[in-house]
Amino acid sequence: MKVLIVGGGGREHAIAWKVAQSPKVDKLYCAPGNAGIAEVAECVNIGVMEFDKLTAFAKEQAIDLTIVGPDDPLAAGAVDAFEAAGLRVFGPRKNAAILEGSKAFSKDLMKKYGIPTAAYETFDSPEAALSYLETADMPIVLKADGLALGKGVLICNNLEEAKEGVKTLMLDKQFGSAGNRIVVEEFMTGREVSVLSFVDGRTIKIMTSAQDHKRAKDGDQGLNTGGMGTFSPSPFYTEEVDAFCKEYIYQKTVDAMAAEGREFKGIIFFGLMLTAKGPRVLEYNARFGDPETQVVLPRMKNDIVDVFEACIDGTLDQIDLQFEDNAAVCVVLASDGYPEHYEKGFKISGLEKFQDADGYYVFHAGSKFDADGDIVTNGGRVLGVTATGSDLKEARANAYKATGWVEFGNKYMRHDIGKAIDEA
Ligand code: AMP
Ligand code: GLY
Repeated sequence: MKVLIVGGGGREHAIAWKVAQSPKVDKLYCAPGNAGIAEVAECVNIGVMEFDKLTAFAKEQAIDLTIVGPDDPLAAGAVDAFEAAGLRVFGPRKNAAILEGSKAFSKDLMKKYGIPTAAYETFDSPEAALSYLETADMPIVLKADGLALGKGVLICNNLEEAKEGVKTLMLDKQFGSAGNRIVVEEFMTGREVSVLSFVDGRTIKIMTSAQDHKRAKDGDQGLNTGGMGTFSPSPFYTEEVDAFCKEYIYQKTVDAMAAEGREFKGIIFFGLMLTAKGPRVLEYNARFGDPETQVVLPRMKNDIVDVFEACIDGTLDQIDLQFEDNAAVCVVLASDGYPEHYEKGFKISGLEKFQDADGYYVFHAGSKFDADGDIVTNGGRVLGVTATGSDLKEARANAYKATGWVEFGNKYMRHDIGKAIDEA
């Protein structure tokens, strides 16, 4: 069969790598892809928001299955556009992708269906938000309602910071219209866990757990980023946590979406916080996590194409989802200065060292071919170096060893990815 993946980051590289292993797939395309994805798929120069061009391409090439990776096209109705064109596609429709696209929607859904999450209020006007904050407990969390590349969340330690935050989101509109409405949320403490799942509208199958590192610098300092590294599984995701989430969070979310007439098919990513009172939902995403995917998919045993098809067909209950009994760690190699200002266009060397190294992977997040055909840096996050191991410590040592195999100008990474492993 012919498969098309929409997207061009590290997540899509990991998805493409996994899809390419399926014996069912004869031809794989990726739009727009990147220089790493080009090793496993033919890259097509169409942007992720160019739905007309994407569907025209899929029809021309008689694509049998399309997988949409990123949040923006999903929230804007990419899946609806493919379906309207009579094409088979994996991902939530627009009316279900709102689970990630609007934090106010997801908070209201959790409240209505009794899914454990932080207490919150929603505001459409800065005046009302400011007057609420005058008497609220600190610290407090402000969230832009809409999509903001994972950066529209402000943790405010005192009233002054909270007032400044309202200004940033609602008046200065640092995240554009995403900040027209904000959610003001109770501050919670605890360990964070990312749990990805496949959903077919009714049935949900949980993948293995992972943990991200969102801050730019060691010791969880610096600005929030898209993610600087991950490990899987999370040793803090115990059987007890799993049982709680299965009873109060996972199936309830799927059922709630169905009850709202927003049947969810695709990936639900549960961002959980393990608080002293039990697991709470921090956020939902309607897609694979980045860089969670880079540690979860290398551990997955199933043919992922079978799982995608089962989600579309509503037969996920017949899939026995299985993961290796090992561990994986991903260290992101970024451009120094990310997530703010950074330079691009530096030549990347050493990539060939991954070719014959079993259990080592380099997933490209921001790379491209220059005019000479050399691979150069092309983004804030450049590469995700993933390694597996029999346990987390071995996987971490392997991943850090492999970060030394590649070099490029302004290479930057955190040195403490997986530090929490030592505290487990
Ligand atoms: P989100 O995009 O909603 O996952 O938020 C980004 C990050 O902000 C999370 O990964 C948490 O580290 C932090 N965060 C979000 N909501 C809260 C909260 N209610 N309490 C404490 N930290 C939070
Ligand atoms: N790694 C967090 C995310 O994909 O949103």
